[in-house]
Amino acid sequence: MKEKLKAIRDEAIKQIEASDALEKLNDVRVSFLGKKGELTSVLKSMKDVAPEDRPMVGQLVNETRQAIESILEETKTKLERAAREAQLKSEVIDVTLPAKKNNVGHRHPNTIAQEEVERIFIGMGYEVMEGPEVEYDLYNFEKLNIPANHPAKDEQDTFYINKEIVLRTQTSPVQARVMEQGKLPIRMIAPGRVFRADEVDATHSPSFHQIEGLVIDKNVTFADLKGTLEVFVKELFGESTKIKFRPHHFPFTEPSAEVDVSCFKCGGKGCRFCKGEGWIEILGCGMVHPHVLEMCGIDPDEYSGFAFGVGLERIALLKYEIDDMRLLYENDIRFLKQF
Ligand code: DAH
Repeated sequence: MKEKLKAIRDEAIKQIEASDALEKLNDVRVSFLGKKGELTSVLKSMKDVAPEDRPMVGQLVNETRQAIESILEETKTKLERAAREAQLKSEVIDVTLPAKKNNVGHRHPNTIAQEEVERIFIGMGYEVMEGPEVEYDLYNFEKLNIPANHPAKDEQDTFYINKEIVLRTQTSPVQARVMEQGKLPIRMIAPGRVFRADEVDATHSPSFHQIEGLVIDKNVTFADLKGTLEVFVKELFGESTKIKFRPHHFPFTEPSAEVDVSCFKCGGKGCRFCKGEGWIEILGCGMVHPHVLEMCGIDPDEYSGFAFGVGLERIALLKYEIDDMRLLYENDIRFLKQF
């Protein structure tokens, strides 16, 4: 047994010394010390050794193992050092090259515009809330007084998941969700993504963003709506901005209006930017319809309120004078860095 162990040890050392690469060294380790290695098979044959000799043989096996391991370790360190030196020799570092710059991203114009709108309304005591992008027909249409035969519900315009579930076409369903929670008064805005079955062009995208606003309290009037939106547009587009309310129809507000602001580019004279009109349409709004209040569990005799919906891309395009909406979705860093 003693001779056998010595033979294994000598052979191992011979092979280790002959290894000129780390992989080869590893093969040697496995073939001697591994599960099916030579030393392991000696251990397995211990049952044939006379019981009184076993401690001595066991000790010998251990010594052999330790001896092989320590030479392996030494050789491994040597080989690693050699490999590192070879690598350093072959790789020339040009210390005169300029350092790589870290590529820092940039906030998206949508995000900048959204944060600006949030800042303005938070300053007026509003909360920022959220609703789901995949929404029930019930909230997207029904509770907003939009009847089953309304053209907006056409499959040409709305993405349906199934008969009851749609990709929300507006942020207005958040109004119904917040009113239903029953906590009054309400002063909130709800920014978020909306979806419509539109073809992509310079002013349309199947997915864009809106910011909804809702105020419900006792004695809220159209004057409050006008005052609030006036503060909003002056903060957003500048102190000299004028505001105009045009009567309009939305099913969930009565009365309803569309709001135009005086063109901040030409000051209202008419230019390419406002298509010669002097005015630019920016949002829809109105007094929350009593029937909508009722459907959301609020007594219209006690409470009233106003709502509005702004297109976020529209604001970003106007504010940063971007003339094609598609640029907003390409995420080209050279474009984004301009804002
Ligand atoms: N949801 C409307 C749209 O997508 C915009 C809107 C109009 C929202 C009037 C409102 C509102 O809250 O009162 O066209």
